[in-house]
Amino acid sequence: MAENKEVLDYLATRRSTPVDFLGAPGPTEGQLAEILKLGVRVPDHAKLNPWRLVIYQGDARAAVGEKLAQIARVNNPQIDEKELETERNRFLPAPLTIGVLSSPVEHFKVPEFEQLLSSAGVALNLLHAANAAGFAAHWVTRWFAYDKAAASMLGAKPGERFVAFVHIGTPTRRLEDKPTPDMKKIVTRWAG
Ligand SMILES: Cc1cc2nc3c(=O)[nH]c(=O)nc-3n(C[C@H](O)[C@H](O)[C@H](O)COP(=O)(O)O)c2cc1C
Repeated sequence: MAENKEVLDYLATRRSTPVDFLGAPGPTEGQLAEILKLGVRVPDHAKLNPWRLVIYQGDARAAVGEKLAQIARVNNPQIDEKELETERNRFLPAPLTIGVLSSPVEHFKVPEFEQLLSSAGVALNLLHAANAAGFAAHWVTRWFAYDKAAASMLGAKPGERFVAFVHIGTPTRRLEDKPTPDMKKIVTRWAG
């Protein structure tokens, strides 16, 4: 592969845009189809496709928020109206959200851990694909990725778990660059 300055520049400056700063427009149906296709082009040991994607778009976003608020109230009957409103709005700022589920299969050679890691690859690839299509995106999990009733309501089947909700939209705010990790701290050269 030839050196590609544009890709290098993109990787050097990649940033998430927090979901509260994602607005309309979102991807068209054609752009979404492309983002999904690129998103699942990830390393996947033995080509098991051990992931599933769930799309939340249009009216489904408010419906999901209402159900999240109901589950949050069951979990905490003392929850106040402000907190309930937060739950109702969870999927509303961004025009489109893609839920990424790890959906592992039994395999004699590929451990579940590797299948889970491949799902994280899908989430990151979706960010890249959304960015490449001209949108901003944010990978979140939040409580509803881990709460059994909420995850099931959001589309998880038995044995599956959410690794990401990738919110996608147009940024409503420009963000500062972020600091680069201290490379000396995290990289060592093996010397025996
Ligand atoms: C598995 C995973 C779960 C995350 N969940 C959340 C979350 O629930 N809420 C949140 O604000 N950020 C969450 N983040 C962090 C954001 O995706 C993002 O990395 C962070 O806002 C920093 O932005 P950056 O991508 O520009 O570095 C999560 C990241 C990962 C890898």
